[in-house]
Amino acid sequence: MSEKLLVNEHVAYVKDLFRHPAYLVHFMAEHLKMNALYWGLGTLFLVNHTDEFARDEVIHFVLSCIDESNGGFGAAPNHDAHMLSTLSALQVLKMYDAIGEMTSEQRQGVIRFVKSMQLPDGSFQGDQFGEVDTRFVYNALQCLSILEELDPSIVDPAVDWILQCQNFDGCFGMVPGSESHAAQGFTCLGALSIANALDKLPNKEILEWWLSDRQVDSGGLNGRPEKLPDVCYSWWVLSSLAMLGKLHYIDGKKLQKFILSCQDAEKGGISDRKDKEVDIYHTFFGIAGLSLLGYKNLRKVDPIYCLPVDVTSTIKKYPYP
Ligand code: FPP
Ligand code: ZN
Repeated sequence: MSEKLLVNEHVAYVKDLFRHPAYLVHFMAEHLKMNALYWGLGTLFLVNHTDEFARDEVIHFVLSCIDESNGGFGAAPNHDAHMLSTLSALQVLKMYDAIGEMTSEQRQGVIRFVKSMQLPDGSFQGDQFGEVDTRFVYNALQCLSILEELDPSIVDPAVDWILQCQNFDGCFGMVPGSESHAAQGFTCLGALSIANALDKLPNKEILEWWLSDRQVDSGGLNGRPEKLPDVCYSWWVLSSLAMLGKLHYIDGKKLQKFILSCQDAEKGGISDRKDKEVDIYHTFFGIAGLSLLGYKNLRKVDPIYCLPVDVTSTIKKYPYP
């Protein structure tokens, strides 16, 4: 078990994953390709290896995933557009400072797609098939924020709907009335933060205590009471506490040790729990968690956008002057 972050091993792991011509096929479905690209590139950026991938090739791939029928991004070429892949695509472009490399038609198409996913009650569906979830509100607001296209007609009903998803324990579920879950808490706090509406949230103190209760004896964090700890909650819980200014409510040293204990010292990568199979999702969120904890030599991550802060510092924040 390593006491330090194995940067070179993780870089080799990410590069190897994407070098494969049909990358990720061995463990991850095609419909996650665009998300995986964001997790992989995000990992490389946070460990300051920004030039490992060929920038132009990545941008070309991302733009080739636009769904011509509605303007959104699919997970891979010829896939139907979805809010999840659309946000990842814009995040990848943003990391490469390539938002301006979309044609104005492409840009207008994405804006139209994202806005078209909003329902009359302010919520967002993930795609044309109508699944509604707090995740998609976050996705939509971050997409429009990256494009600097937020406006009150979209933001105000979205904020009202998000506030309805808060439960008596302070945290949030997928839709109004559904069980609290730390990752859903992240999406709601992130959406409110992007909307500059965090001050509208009642019961902040209960939420802060609920979040701090997620740390278990091993130092790891879980997503709900009575569940096992999982490295990805180092992101969902910690970023939520960071947005609330309460990062110190958990024991950072113990959490750091837990995350580092989930590294694969031979082939690189981080797993959800010690001695399990690594994957790019837990690798990225483990390292993003370490970045929030101030781990040395990592680029600082923005708890709201889950992108490096030097990337998000160039986004004009809402409300616009
Ligand atoms: C739990 O996944 C995670 C969620 C429900 C939240 C996911 C959030 C988004 C997709 C919004 C975009 C996020 C970012 C950071 C830009 P899970 O239950 O599958 O994970 P697990 O099985 O490992 O617990
Ligand atoms: Zn997990």
